[in-house]
Amino acid sequence: MVDVQARISLTGGSDFWHTPAVPEAGIPELMWTDGPHGVRKQTGSSDHVGINASEPATCFPPAVGLASSWNPDALTEVGVALGEECRALGVGVLLGPGLNIKRSPLCGRNFEYFSEDPLVAGELAAALVRGIQSQGIGTSVKHFAANNQETDRMRRDSQVDERTLREIYLRGFGRVVLTAQPWTIMCSYNKVNGTFASENHWLLTEVLRDEWGFEGVVVSDWGAVWDRVRALKAGLDLEMPANRSHAEAVATALAAGEIDEATIDQAFGRVEAIVKRAAASLDGAPDSFDVDAHHELARRIARECVVLLSNDGVLPLAPDVSVAVVGEFARTPRYQGAGSSRVNPTRLDNALAAIRELVGHDVPFAPGFTTAAGQELSPTAHEDAVAVARDADVVLAFLGLGENHESEGYDRDNADLPAEQLALLDDILAVNPNVVVVLSNGSSVLLPFADRVRAVVEGWLLGQGGGRAIADVLYGAVNPSGKITETIPRRLQDTPSYLNFPGDDTGVRYGEGLFVGYRGYDASGIEVAFPFGHGLSYTTFAYSDLSLTVADGGVRVALTVANTGARAGREVVQVYASIGASRVTRVPRELKGFASVTLEPGASGRVEVFVPSSELAYWSVADHAWVVEGGDYTVEVGSSSRDLRLSGTVAVAGNEPFRPLTLGSTVAEGMAVPAFAEIVAKLAGDIFTGDPDLIRMMESMPLAALVGFSGQRQSEFEELLAQVNAARA
Ligand code: BGC
Repeated sequence: MVDVQARISLTGGSDFWHTPAVPEAGIPELMWTDGPHGVRKQTGSSDHVGINASEPATCFPPAVGLASSWNPDALTEVGVALGEECRALGVGVLLGPGLNIKRSPLCGRNFEYFSEDPLVAGELAAALVRGIQSQGIGTSVKHFAANNQETDRMRRDSQVDERTLREIYLRGFGRVVLTAQPWTIMCSYNKVNGTFASENHWLLTEVLRDEWGFEGVVVSDWGAVWDRVRALKAGLDLEMPANRSHAEAVATALAAGEIDEATIDQAFGRVEAIVKRAAASLDGAPDSFDVDAHHELARRIARECVVLLSNDGVLPLAPDVSVAVVGEFARTPRYQGAGSSRVNPTRLDNALAAIRELVGHDVPFAPGFTTAAGQELSPTAHEDAVAVARDADVVLAFLGLGENHESEGYDRDNADLPAEQLALLDDILAVNPNVVVVLSNGSSVLLPFADRVRAVVEGWLLGQGGGRAIADVLYGAVNPSGKITETIPRRLQDTPSYLNFPGDDTGVRYGEGLFVGYRGYDASGIEVAFPFGHGLSYTTFAYSDLSLTVADGGVRVALTVANTGARAGREVVQVYASIGASRVTRVPRELKGFASVTLEPGASGRVEVFVPSSELAYWSVADHAWVVEGGDYTVEVGSSSRDLRLSGTVAVAGNEPFRPLTLGSTVAEGMAVPAFAEIVAKLAGDIFTGDPDLIRMMESMPLAALVGFSGQRQSEFEELLAQVNAARA
């Protein structure tokens, strides 16, 4: 039996990035490191905010970019490459992917997250996990849970109602656990409804393990544990990084009988299993990876992530069009976010060089503004940029957010592009209306100029191959096919979380409830700049022949997509569903599935998406369970959440639990049960044959009140109720 001190030691790190060796149990030391879109292996000083250097590794597009591909296969490919790099660099667990919902565009860490929608976020994260783990390397799906802002992230209490928590904030995590069984889950810093995630038994044990069947290790975010004893009891297995006092506290608590040895053993056993698995994959692994091949992969994936937001036909550019490139981002790309996920890339493409290479000659360039603090800028930079722009046929204006504008650790306080960039754009437009804006940003920015420029290309953050990908899209070497997974609003005030973000020291109330992102904009009928799921192509697609079939415990959605334009292209088809009449609050439509189809010009293909009935369930607070309401569901299929091309209705059987009528049921609920309607009508007397407004008023009256008013004995009435319920059950 391994000494208890040694067992305790494995419930914490040995330093910043390692779990300790326990030689008597055959457990080697193991490195766990960030993640998510590249390996950040620090060899010198350690930190969890991306300050110190790390070994070169491929910087793939961060989640904000990857998500726009809507392509799980691409994410799995990236995952495989990440796994290979981990093996080459001796890293056993890669800390990612990040899966939190983009509740507000202001969240400083949105670049590391996939979407405002849990289905697309969960599907893509699961695909990445599968890829990494296929190489025998662990993942750490983070940050569990309700960590949707950076402001006061280490303490703030996320106050989320039960249904919203289940349907929006936990749903993606559940999907990843159920479909990809990540080796580890990282609990977040914040509190969830009053209890720190690291000490939240409901979250870490009841939901994660008992309900979802999670078999791996729960690791803390770096420094998220306040009390390791409480955390272990709640279901945490591993505190990172090392914390000597916390390890001592566990030993003291054990001696005092405040924690069972079995609890320690459970955590020890789980960590042991993961470490041994990863160590086996690292054993004899090659000590290098194919840098060129991975760079090519980073470029190829980035090409699928670029989103063409608007285009009046100016794009794609012919190689002989005279262009001027403006904006420092073209030369010094912003390709990843700041903080713990910052990777030291093996190569770095920039769009300016890639454009010059594509057209085969020099093109005029002016930086116009700086993109990072401390960069030198000539006093005439603004005027120089306007001058360069004046004579070109087309101006390519590379605008965006600098590293200091958005980062792990803090949120933005507005969603605007920097004022100097907007002023430069205005001045350029005054001398040349033919402007294409190319954006670099980790989260939505407001685009008040969208109608005044000829095209907007959303480049998000695209990793080390992004510069080349952008050039390929601008010149049509690649037909854009990315679509946004977060709504781009017209005004910050329109965002559903606006009045409840980021809260204060009493907590952050998720007051918009289920109405996050497009769910909220659609419910309020608010115009947006670009809707969830939007992205254009250089070709066009026609949708036809929708068929909806109930089979195999779900709805089989099939349709035909035809490429009606002149170029080959990929279309991401989105399936949304809603139920007409519901007994609970519903959002207008929710994404229930998606698929891509790549078609040559003139070709068409049948696209199928299967929506399991369980996907149509809502979280019933009354039953503390997922419940599918039986009824007619509207299925809408489209090219974006606001470009719905086909729709149909399908009857789906529900699994609603039997709900007996009680004295607390309303008159309307009673009337809905045929065997009871007569009794209720009798109690209500003449009213039901009279004034319709009066009937409406009566409908929401509890039966208890009706009985009282009618003069009938309550006990007799309760007997009737019992008979009716027994006949229905
Ligand atoms: C971040 C995690 C990261 C960890 C280690 C924390 O500050 O929230 O995402 O994995 O540091 O760097």
